[in-house]
Amino acid sequence: MRIIYTDTYQKMSEEAAKVIAGQLWVKPDSVLGLATGSTPVELYQNLVWLHKTVGLDFAQATSFNLDEYVGLAEDDPQSYHRFMHENLFNHVNMRRDRIFFPNGMAADAAREAEDYEARIAAAGGIDMQLLGIGRNAHIGFNEPDDAFARTTHKVALKESTIEANARFFSSAAEVPREAMSMGIGTIFRARHIVLLASGAEKAEAVRDAVEGTITPRVPASILQLHPCVTLIVDHAAGALLSGKSEP
Ligand code: F6R
Repeated sequence: MRIIYTDTYQKMSEEAAKVIAGQLWVKPDSVLGLATGSTPVELYQNLVWLHKTVGLDFAQATSFNLDEYVGLAEDDPQSYHRFMHENLFNHVNMRRDRIFFPNGMAADAAREAEDYEARIAAAGGIDMQLLGIGRNAHIGFNEPDDAFARTTHKVALKESTIEANARFFSSAAEVPREAMSMGIGTIFRARHIVLLASGAEKAEAVRDAVEGTITPRVPASILQLHPCVTLIVDHAAGALLSGKSEP
């Protein structure tokens, strides 16, 4: 695993933007796997800036988001669909017909999950998958479990994740209890995985994921087996890694 240590959230975001911009410059028709949450917000601002100032081109790119809440319509202010449009898609030249999310409103979740996998496969697979990490080391909505979920599926959110995500809602009671998420296998098939982590509350999850036992109880630990992972951490999130030298 390649680890890029940065001092601040801003630097982490800039480094991440360089990695994704580099991907798009080398392969303009890249298939990107994208994440929501607090972590990538400034990365997306950097990508928008690169688009507007130096012409970073999304015209041939395709995107598949990691996850979406079950029961929220696309235009719901809390939907991941809305988040991605407000933070990235509305500000770059990504074609609308090349933007994909798992449909959290699908009547048949199992069928939707299969269709999502088929859409990813038809696009040629994911070239670069962006990930954040939960405090319990979840990736996507793959929560600690007895086994690694292989493909896209409907998942019940853990209480800790509901509490963590309540900051985006007026109360924890409003956070949907279920989501559709790419599985660990879906994520793992990406050719290059870029994992971002910022803040002291992620430090233990990062340490366990990178240096701990590989176990579905620490979902991100599976990334130790992937041949091409870039982890970009700020000072606080990387503080417990053994390779981290004090600045
Ligand atoms: C988001 C996602 C989640 C987040 C994780 C970290 O699409 O799949 O796994 O990446 O919960 O969230 P933040 O960045 O808000 O700390």
